Amino acid sequence: MVALREEGKIATIGLSAVSLDIVRRASSAGIACVQNAYSLVDREFEDVFRFCAETNLAWVPFFPLGGAVRGMPKVTEQPEVIAVADRLGATPSQVGLAWLLKQSENTLLIPGTSSVAHLEENCAAGSVTLDEDAMRELDAIKVGQGAIC
Ligand SMILES: NC(=O)c1ccc[n+]([C@@H]2O[C@H](COP(=O)([O-])OP(=O)(O)OC[C@H]3O[C@@H](n4cnc5c(N)ncnc54)[C@H](OP(=O)(O)O)[C@@H]3O)[C@@H](O)[C@H]2O)c1
Repeated sequence: MVALREEGKIATIGLSAVSLDIVRRASSAGIACVQNAYSLVDREFEDVFRFCAETNLAWVPFFPLGGAVRGMPKVTEQPEVIAVADRLGATPSQVGLAWLLKQSENTLLIPGTSSVAHLEENCAAGSVTLDEDAMRELDAIKVGQGAIC
């Protein structure tokens, strides 16, 4: 990949679904971003997220709402998320996305949707402010460990 970048065939290198060890080993090559599964219901890659935040690597959590795959836990269905959304006058999806944005300034969101209404709702998540009480309630959610890498 480094050779392809030097030849000008690719602009940058991104990693996906990787362990902390792999990110550490690859970072000396100049990595642009890391895309791992991460959300309020799946924090298996907390260590990778923290490394990216500390080293200013762009962090692109995939499945930010828990994923579109049937059977996986959904951020928007968690009682704590629904309660916070009701209290703040936001939607559950916006609360889940705002929580991700609040984790670090280098977080880039890529929620998927088949609905224009959801797209507009999700784009407005950046204007939702989560207070300390909300963060405490959300951080207490029991999370899964890597439903999918
Ligand atoms: N790098 C990788 O290995 C990898 C693996 C998986 C996914 N990805 C990427 O990650 C991104 C997101 O993946 P994803 O779409 O599967 O997961 P997601 O963004 O976590 O969840 C999408 C699901 O959330 C629902 N949703 C979206 N907005 C909503 C809203 N406002 N209210 C209620 N429900 C809402 C969608 O339903 P509706 O359609 O009804 O809105 C859909 O079922 C995609 O770009 C995908 O390509 C990358």
